[in-house]
Amino acid sequence: MYSLIGQSIAALDTPQLLIDLDLVDANLERMFAPFRGKRVNVRVHFKSLKCAGLARHIAKTGGNGFLCAKLNEAEVLADAGLTDILIANQIVGPIKVRRLAQLAHRAQVRVCVDDEKNIDELSRAMKEAGAILGVLVEVDIGMGRCGVDPGEPALTLARRIHASPGLRFDGLQGYDGQRRAKCLQSLDKLIGTRRLIEKAGIPVKVVTGAGTGTWEFVGCYEGVTEIQPGSFVLMDVAYHAVRPEFGCALTILASVISRRPGRYILDAGSKAISKDFGNPAIKNHPQEKVLKLSEEHATVEADTTAIGMGERREVIPAHCCATMNLHRNCLAIRKGRIEALWPIEASGRYD
Ligand SMILES: Cc1ncc(COP(=O)(O)O)c(C=O)c1O
Repeated sequence: MYSLIGQSIAALDTPQLLIDLDLVDANLERMFAPFRGKRVNVRVHFKSLKCAGLARHIAKTGGNGFLCAKLNEAEVLADAGLTDILIANQIVGPIKVRRLAQLAHRAQVRVCVDDEKNIDELSRAMKEAGAILGVLVEVDIGMGRCGVDPGEPALTLARRIHASPGLRFDGLQGYDGQRRAKCLQSLDKLIGTRRLIEKAGIPVKVVTGAGTGTWEFVGCYEGVTEIQPGSFVLMDVAYHAVRPEFGCALTILASVISRRPGRYILDAGSKAISKDFGNPAIKNHPQEKVLKLSEEHATVEADTTAIGMGERREVIPAHCCATMNLHRNCLAIRKGRIEALWPIEASGRYD
């Protein structure tokens, strides 16, 4: 079979999802270096990757464990032999809880809870399966999503987990997705909750939170043991505007299929490039502006006098996580040559 490995990207058909490994490695080093030798663990969020090949690459570079939003992501990681997994979400209902118990036999898996009934459901299932599950209480520190209020409500759940067979209370999860000032106030509440639980005689091993937008000030906050950013690995137009220290490694290679004075059309649209955070950008051509994405076309404003039919462009998406979710495979490249073809196992899955 014709192998793509070692070929130039010029040989590819389009559209094609590309990951620049030199940029990925620089992003990983930027994130991991400040925490080497420190007590803070960097747990990369797999919802941004969904691709076991990329996760294995990160593990080789020193990534210690992964975060997941969904059970299917955790199963993909375990299948790839990456077994230090935190699901930063609630696993509810007999079907998923059974899957979780199976996973707990082959991975060091932890989940979040914010409800007593859910704790009881998990405890019953783990006891039945003869498994032990690490559990974190999710604290709502400003996101207004899952989680209990800081303080007493979190302590009540910690006590219940601590007393539940099959479960091990490991600590607290608190993610607020905000910018610096707000985020610091939220951390106060999270660490205050940690101290309250410890005063009640229950050890708190893990306090985890933060994303690409808040990584360094959460990571340096006394009492936090772990950060959980994801987008920094691949990056996108939206995050790059506020976090320029990470480079945009994810692109969609596309071809010009039509042109007229002042605009050209690419053969990739919203089915290949997520538009939930706005329009993408054209790599290395800042003067060319994407005006809109339709399903299979991108309309780009540009001086087209020197742009030929079939000419290539790399498009940087506005949202990397949602773009990974649109593709079934990606090509890992270095200096314009293909190094690996990776399936994106968890794309298009929501279970
Ligand atoms: C629980 C949780 N942790 C961390 C993150 C950070 O992800 P990112 O680095 O992509 O902002 C998110 C983002 O959605 C999240 O929901």
